[in-house]
Amino acid sequence: MGSVVVAIDQGTTSSRAIVFGADLSIKAIAQAEFPQHYPSSGWVEHDPDDIWSTVVETTRQALAKAGVTAADVAGLGITNQRETTLVWERATGRPIHRAIVWQDRRTASECARLKAEGHEPMVSARSGLLLDPYFSATKIAWILDHVEGARDKAARGELAFGTVDTFLLWRLTGGKVHATDATNASRTLLFDIHRGEWDPDLMHLFRVPASMLPEVRDCAADFGETDPALFGGPIAIGGMAGDQQAATVGQACFKPGMMKSTYGTGCFALLNTGDEAVASRAKLLTTIAYQLNGRRSYALEGSIFVAGAAVQWLRDGLGIVKMAGETGALAAASDPNQEVILVPAFVGLGAPYWDAECRGAIFGLTRGTGPKEMARAALESVCFQTADLLAAMRADWPGASETVLRVDGGMVASDWTMQRLADLLDAPVDRPEVLETTALGAAYLAGLSRGVYPEPDVFAEKWRLEHRFVPSMDEATRSAKLARWKDAVSRTLSRPG
Ligand code: G3P
Repeated sequence: MGSVVVAIDQGTTSSRAIVFGADLSIKAIAQAEFPQHYPSSGWVEHDPDDIWSTVVETTRQALAKAGVTAADVAGLGITNQRETTLVWERATGRPIHRAIVWQDRRTASECARLKAEGHEPMVSARSGLLLDPYFSATKIAWILDHVEGARDKAARGELAFGTVDTFLLWRLTGGKVHATDATNASRTLLFDIHRGEWDPDLMHLFRVPASMLPEVRDCAADFGETDPALFGGPIAIGGMAGDQQAATVGQACFKPGMMKSTYGTGCFALLNTGDEAVASRAKLLTTIAYQLNGRRSYALEGSIFVAGAAVQWLRDGLGIVKMAGETGALAAASDPNQEVILVPAFVGLGAPYWDAECRGAIFGLTRGTGPKEMARAALESVCFQTADLLAAMRADWPGASETVLRVDGGMVASDWTMQRLADLLDAPVDRPEVLETTALGAAYLAGLSRGVYPEPDVFAEKWRLEHRFVPSMDEATRSAKLARWKDAVSRTLSRPG
């Protein structure tokens, strides 16, 4: 058996493949962006062929860059943008619609209807989620209702559903394996996270036939092998997890109370709560962090839709910076006496507000406000949102009180932002040496099941701190800032918070 492990990380804006060595070091990375489709306001779609071709191409490139062949690979792990929904014909493998992306809000009115009918308590109790268009179930029903003949085909068992992991697995195995893992299943609104199985009542409520659903496996498991024609020989697929859960694994957050936050387009904070699926009173999500040897570990999750996207807006929308990396230095030079607050509700607000209808707002503008203050407002908005999540986690679960936040993702390169984050959280923020935590998590799961990587406690010892940001803001300043943020949010919400 080979000794390297390949991770496929299929994200919202790009596909990546990373080859890891037997010592978990990175040997090669390949990345390809692909087009986003916005057919209507609030709609976001991906072409399944773009997803597929970029995954195959980047995997081939990464193998070539690392100078290895399929025979050198011990295992392959898949991690992915979660919730994004695909439906395809079992006979041909042909998708019957473009992928409907997690950000897509087209089913907001259907979710509102189900909520008004009083279904949310049951849905939350079983799935750990909320009635929001973010998740897969209403997207599946939308495809079945809008593609001609789809409901009949589904009733005859001719259609398969999958999130991106499942779709990739199906294609990678040449249509042989229709399976997902417990973390991805836990984002569909159809999965009972306590029993670890698809829930008939949820399937009935969301009008999704059982015949469409994939088999659910552990995160480190035998998922079959790749079609030999793809990479010059078969590769065993041994790991799978949604990208935020893979990052939780990559950050070695294996103990209850450990928490990670990933700053990409959005920000997703997961707090490990161990065997306990903590029901949130503060509108966080209860989700499966990982499932190993049939044993589920749970997390409380806070999902923010705009983090790095606020910096992209400064760059691409306002033209205030040329490169995202300039933002921290600009913010550092801003006028401390100006209190500009940006509420980046570009696509509504996620946790803990869950307001799909509100839109962004800026408060506190003066004649003296310039690019520096706008840069600070954008970066601080990410910190304020994380502070909201941590406050919600602390309200939900006592184990969150002493937590240290492990961070990763593009934005964490900015020292200014990480210091401000620690200050506004009033908690230490740990930046690790390896920032490719999502791919690392997927590779680790594959290597674990293939027997080339060690057990979680040994893997956890390999996690290395690059820098700890310690809070240094005085309490009065912090409280005043948080109060201004709260006031700004309350004035932005489409309904009273
Ligand atoms: O829940 C959505 C999340 O998995 C997307 O992550 O990194 O592809 O933006 P990312």
